[in-house]
Amino acid sequence: MSVRRYHSQLRQGAAERRAETHPLTWRLREDGTMVGLEEYVEKKGYAAVREVLNHRTADDVIKTMKEANVRGRGGAGFSAGVKWSLTMKGPDIPRGYLVCNADEMEPGTFKDRLLLEQQPHLLIEGMILAGYANDSCFGYIFLRGEYLEAARAVQRALDEARAAGWLGADIAGSGFDFDIALHSGAGRYICGEETALINSLEGRRANPRDKPPFPGQSGAWGKPTVVNNVETLCNAPGVMHHGAQWYQELSGELSDDGGTKLYGVSGKVNMPGLWELPIGTPASELLERAGGMRDGRTLKTWLPGGGSTGFLLPEHLDSPLDFDSIGKLGSRLGTGLLTVVNEDQSVLALVRNLEQFFARESCGWCTPCRDGLPWTVKLLQALERGEGEPRDIEMLDKLADDLGPGKTFCAHAPGAAMPLQSALKYFRDEFERGVTNPAGVTHDEPMPVGEA
Ligand SMILES: Cc1cc2nc3c(=O)[nH]c(=O)nc-3n(C[C@H](O)[C@H](O)[C@H](O)COP(=O)(O)O)c2cc1C
Ligand code: SF4
Repeated sequence: MSVRRYHSQLRQGAAERRAETHPLTWRLREDGTMVGLEEYVEKKGYAAVREVLNHRTADDVIKTMKEANVRGRGGAGFSAGVKWSLTMKGPDIPRGYLVCNADEMEPGTFKDRLLLEQQPHLLIEGMILAGYANDSCFGYIFLRGEYLEAARAVQRALDEARAAGWLGADIAGSGFDFDIALHSGAGRYICGEETALINSLEGRRANPRDKPPFPGQSGAWGKPTVVNNVETLCNAPGVMHHGAQWYQELSGELSDDGGTKLYGVSGKVNMPGLWELPIGTPASELLERAGGMRDGRTLKTWLPGGGSTGFLLPEHLDSPLDFDSIGKLGSRLGTGLLTVVNEDQSVLALVRNLEQFFARESCGWCTPCRDGLPWTVKLLQALERGEGEPRDIEMLDKLADDLGPGKTFCAHAPGAAMPLQSALKYFRDEFERGVTNPAGVTHDEPMPVGEA
């Protein structure tokens, strides 16, 4: 397999990464090529599966995950242990499915890609443990369609694991049967929403489903289904191997959340990339590790975890990057990959670009999202051209409110509202500078198809 060609790679050398402190990345090779089965097993790979499947109950696995407080790394931060405990299971309940969400289309996010391409056996091990805990009969990896190299790596790892008896019937002589299939999506952001993902997996149109019932009650093909993010599942082997207390202590005094986080930085920095650090590490440290701002420019603003999170300011850089701390600042940790913006860049243009993406990726089921997002784009484009009307900014405030939580079927629209609302709060002057068109002149010509 080839050496990495893109700059989105782990920036920590092997000397810094140890099994006790870097459970997600300590086995990664310096050249970025995939860790195959032999090497993975040599480095204690699948040891947690052998131990757990033969000596521990499913309830015990769930209890340990709960105690470790592994919070979902897909963006919402919901406890994996709690999710697993809520999945319907028992003698009268049909065995369901475990789905790994590897759709990763959040703008500015490229963390799962690293794990999928370079260490797919860690994911498979995590999925076997999750499948055992949830009494799942089969697992799926729902992969973003464009991740071709990840598809090759995951398929190779699945074949290797099956040939070695880590997948299939009677895994490690435990009596537990479980297998995993790779399913590549068609490259749509909405397929990352867990119920839209399930619809897509079933071969239906990728619209989110009404909840309840939640997937843990009735998911894929009407069976109890657990959906977890790649990074969340990759945490399970370490937790089972070292215990809940070890996981909790990884973050030390930095955060009440346990474990490490695969953080990243992109944008106008000297060295974009990924770092595995204790959860709660402040953004200031990440920025420093990324070599600071490029060309000596000044930081203007930053998104903490992808395009669907809210802008924060330089004064927020020392806040812990964890779910609750970033929530208290009015944003979201999201995926934990920072997008850094310098003083020369236009926030208005950045927000317009993001809203174009969100408008294009709307599934079209709810009116505020289907109609509100293209309208938002049109107003932002007018302001960008300097042809905005005085009422446009008020209208953007209203549209952002209409896209907010509780008004649509899924979190796509509230996610799209976050960068808009926070940009209007912190950088309103940029929007106001786009207002030159006298009141009364409208720009309500139909938007060309495909523009938004
Ligand atoms: C529009 C939209 C896109 C999403 N995309 C992803 C994604 O690509 N990967 C992911 O893990 N979660 C994504 N999510 C969150 C999932 O719905 C779900 O919460 C997550 O997969 C649960 O895993 P976790 O508990 O391990 O975080 C998305 C949510 C929304 C609303
Ligand atoms: S919020 Fe948008 S993406 Fe989500 S269901 Fe409604 S229309 Fe579809």
